[in-house]
Amino acid sequence: MLRVEGLSKRFGGVVAASGVDLQVQPGEILAVIGPNGAGKSTLLNLLSGLLRPDQGRIEFLGEEITQAPPEVRTWKGLGRAFQIVQPFPEMTVWENLLVGALYGKPNTSLKVAEGVVEEIIERTGLAPKAQTLAGELTLLEDKRLELARALCTRPRLLLLDEVMAGLRPSEALEAVELVRRIRESGVTVLFIEHLMPVVRALADRVVVMDYGQVIAQGRYDEVAANPRVREAYLGRAS
Ligand SMILES: Nc1ncnc2c1ncn2[C@@H]1O[C@H](COP(=O)(O)OP(=O)(O)O)[C@@H](O)[C@H]1O
Ligand SMILES: [Mg+2]
Repeated sequence: MLRVEGLSKRFGGVVAASGVDLQVQPGEILAVIGPNGAGKSTLLNLLSGLLRPDQGRIEFLGEEITQAPPEVRTWKGLGRAFQIVQPFPEMTVWENLLVGALYGKPNTSLKVAEGVVEEIIERTGLAPKAQTLAGELTLLEDKRLELARALCTRPRLLLLDEVMAGLRPSEALEAVELVRRIRESGVTVLFIEHLMPVVRALADRVVVMDYGQVIAQGRYDEVAANPRVREAYLGRAS
């Protein structure tokens, strides 16, 4: 579904992505993990088109999208939720979702968009907050809105950046269930996550990044036992 080859991006002296190769299979849930500053968010920015790579190539559903603008990627079915939530604070939850539904696919009528919002607002548990201003939501609700708005764009592949950060364990469990249901509805998921129990519970496959490079990939138990991965997480106490 997604094929990334030799993706590189530097910011001045910082190499945020360096020769990243990655593939996502249709229907899978893929986790991207790694220490702070490893380049995970940069990878999502390159995939969603907010950044252009210095080198490398991105193919989505068999088409090259390396230079495509973000909205074109969204139309093709690449959805994205941000680590730092990006609501329109002066608009209601309903209106925020309507923006996702209206602009997520070209030429969407208001009627179709409203139908999409109705379905997603139920599925994500946000219906009771429909008329609340996004600026008045709790962080938990903001995170849910971020995810729901991405779903409203009707993605084939959904990119999630730490959507569970800051959640209590019971809330994280709910979010795990929500992501499972999203996959069951036919959406492939690539997610970045710090909470290892969540990664273990959700991911079919895990990709580990460190200093902009992919240092390991495989099943959770495989990468968790990998000495290079353990060093990346534990070996830099000084
Ligand atoms: N827009 C930017 N300008 C300059 N440096 C950046 C920018 N975005 C990320 N970086 C740097 O690139 C590295 C990787 O950052 P990031 O992708 O946010 O890591 P992660 O999400 O894994 O914590 C860090 O050193 C970060 O400071
Ligand atoms: Mg990040």
